[in-house]
Amino acid sequence: SRHLLSVEQFDRAGLERFIRVADVMQPFASRQETTRVLEGAVLSNLFFEASTRTRLSFGAAFARLGGTVLDTTGMTFSSMAKGESIYDTSRVIAGYADAIVVRHPDEGSVAQFAAASNVPVLNAGDGAGEHPSQALLDIYTIQREFSFLGKRIDGSHIAMLGDLRYGRTVHSLARLLSLYSELTFTLYAPTQLEMPEHLVELVRSKGHSVEICETPAHAMAGADAVYATRIQRERMGEAAGAAFNEYRIDQAMIDAHLPSDALLMHPLPRDSREGAADLSSEIVSDPRLAIFRQADNGVAVRMAIFTEALSVSHLVARSSSPVPW
Ligand code: CP
Repeated sequence: SRHLLSVEQFDRAGLERFIRVADVMQPFASRQETTRVLEGAVLSNLFFEASTRTRLSFGAAFARLGGTVLDTTGMTFSSMAKGESIYDTSRVIAGYADAIVVRHPDEGSVAQFAAASNVPVLNAGDGAGEHPSQALLDIYTIQREFSFLGKRIDGSHIAMLGDLRYGRTVHSLARLLSLYSELTFTLYAPTQLEMPEHLVELVRSKGHSVEICETPAHAMAGADAVYATRIQRERMGEAAGAAFNEYRIDQAMIDAHLPSDALLMHPLPRDSREGAADLSSEIVSDPRLAIFRQADNGVAVRMAIFTEALSVSHLVARSSSPVPW
């Protein structure tokens, strides 16, 4: 089956082809055009963790393709709450559905679902592991917005800020960006939340420059895109109560340090609570703020994932060769 578990399944050529398929899906995502290419197909959307964007945009994408969505959420919706194994659960659900989307708090668990399933299993986030559909929509957004600005990803400067240790979206995005050439990465993370060393080394080994910065302002100076992330307290165990207040991106900071043609991105949710270390919710109308365009792109990108996973892209995109992932 065409499971999507990790961005490591993509090479540069495959990623560029995927982006073209997502472009073809845009008018169908916004209902300027319609298709019923997945009529009669059933999606099992299994979310063992909270989600707004990923769950609903996977569901919307499948519905926009004409399919039916079985949507579940929480830790108690399935008989796993009675001790049933991932293997048995996945094996049974694969008999009811044509594709399975899974978000689960344990790293590696979605791969266990895939091992038991003869229909495509798509990783919607596995603990602190990966979030490949998010990274694909992030890359898609960067590529699309850079092209409006006359820029390219090759040779660009990307700043990553926030919780770079537990943030799975940033792990997947760093891997995908490393497929491009000669990028400059500037990283800022509060103490204890730094990017894992193996990922920094992986990015450097592909010929990119990585600078670890002491302040968010230093990291964003001169950037073409800033990718900010929420502090992932739910993954920290005993350290979850710690204060990380030195990190907060507000309007004054971006006015002072962010270039006028830069993108300000965030996978969302951003933490709007008083004193939270994150991208401030006061920033809503700055044209550099790409977060809602980014979230909107999730539907077209996930339509591309479904049509590729279920081998029907050619019926919508009139391209004959599947994306190699
Ligand atoms: N970006 C993202 O994964 O958001 P949700 O947790 O709301 O799905």
